[in-house]
Amino acid sequence: MLSFFKINGKLPMHGGIKVQGSKNAVLPMMAASVLNKGITVIKNVPMILDVCSMIHILRELGCVVKVEGDCVTIDSSQMSKIEIPEEWVGKMRSSIILLGPLLSRFHQVKTFFPGGCSIGKRPIDLHLTALELLGATFTHTENEIIGMTKQLVGNEITFSFPSVGATENAIMASVCAKGTTIIKNGAREPEVVQLCLFLNAMGAKISGMGTSTIKIQGVTQLHDVEFTNAGDRIVAATILAGAAICGGEVFIEGVKKEHLLYVLDALEATGCQWDSKGDVIHLKRCLPLKPIKQLVTAPYPGFPTDCQSQMMAVLTLANGVSTIEETVFEGRFNTANELKKMGADIIIEAEKKRATILGVKKLTGATVKALDLRGGAALVLAGLAADGVTYVTDCHHILRGYAHFAEDLRNLGMDITLLEEKQ
Ligand code: UD1
Repeated sequence: MLSFFKINGKLPMHGGIKVQGSKNAVLPMMAASVLNKGITVIKNVPMILDVCSMIHILRELGCVVKVEGDCVTIDSSQMSKIEIPEEWVGKMRSSIILLGPLLSRFHQVKTFFPGGCSIGKRPIDLHLTALELLGATFTHTENEIIGMTKQLVGNEITFSFPSVGATENAIMASVCAKGTTIIKNGAREPEVVQLCLFLNAMGAKISGMGTSTIKIQGVTQLHDVEFTNAGDRIVAATILAGAAICGGEVFIEGVKKEHLLYVLDALEATGCQWDSKGDVIHLKRCLPLKPIKQLVTAPYPGFPTDCQSQMMAVLTLANGVSTIEETVFEGRFNTANELKKMGADIIIEAEKKRATILGVKKLTGATVKALDLRGGAALVLAGLAADGVTYVTDCHHILRGYAHFAEDLRNLGMDITLLEEKQ
């Protein structure tokens, strides 16, 4: 069955929702459950396709995984397999974060090159180099990678780019390595911090998370753990961008403003006002949408690449010319062509990694295709603000990361339904 969203646009967004648990925090935690050789309980897990894929992979590796509501229990005590099945590597590129945990636990791992994806090339050289520095060796054929180690040993790893996944792999490979690991120019994303807090709750000794220098003192063993996943800052940002493009006022519960400062700054520049109390962010669009002269994506704490497409959708209706520079994933401008089908005016200069968005007075409903997760969410936002009916097809991309998107949006006054068509 193929699924699609049907949206009747042009309604203002009003109300409040509690945001789902974070996708990018929970996936590495689930991978790290391999390390404790026991029971891992994670609460506030979003029931999204990527989580289902990770559950499948863990079961294939021999884990017993139980799902009760938003609580996932993983028993890795009896697991024995070291091969990440090829089918799942294709479905979920972030299965690569199992490399570190499997090498640590079994001293060997087999996986497959993830290949390109719809938002760019996504190589894994930084993952492999970091693991080699910890004592792993890799051999590979055209599509298969085999990793081996006698013993992982702590080392100093300096990343040329603060890759989120490679930092997480290096941390997970180091927690039970012999000696101390120092990661320099590591990723500072809140999801990396969450992983470190989770591992420390399991008995690891990690410090410096949230800064670019992370220190891991190897321990001989970890223990069972119960941990509550944080809210998803990207889903929160998507809804906030929705309030900006549709007009209205929303309250989003479950994220800290500190984790979204660049997004909130950008939304303020478009004419929104916001404030926050505890873990609730309140945003109201007060003025007609204003353009942003120059928005540049960057690793945390910069403007997140995962919010770029949603902001592009917002800026299509701004009163003037905006530019966005995408410095992290080269393929993230593909959604511009779909937005154009709705009447947006966007010029892409791929070699300059730059999009110029000439604001238009209105968007018109059309049939558009989700090409990737966040690009798909951006098309939904555009549909919510467009005149008439919009169909967003290929929704499986969106369902990889949004647990109950249509329901959340309906609770905020939107007219959106997730439908299925026979193939
Ligand atoms: C994670 C997030 C994703 C987010 C991204 C950047 C998860 C599950 N996914 O993806 O939502 O968009 O961080 O914030 O957490 N690179 C290399 N070699 C490597 C690894 C990465 O060149 O070995 C490059 C990538 O091609 C890309 C950049 O580094 O251009 C950033 O990638 P990275 O931070 O690794 O993203 P992911 O961990 O894949």
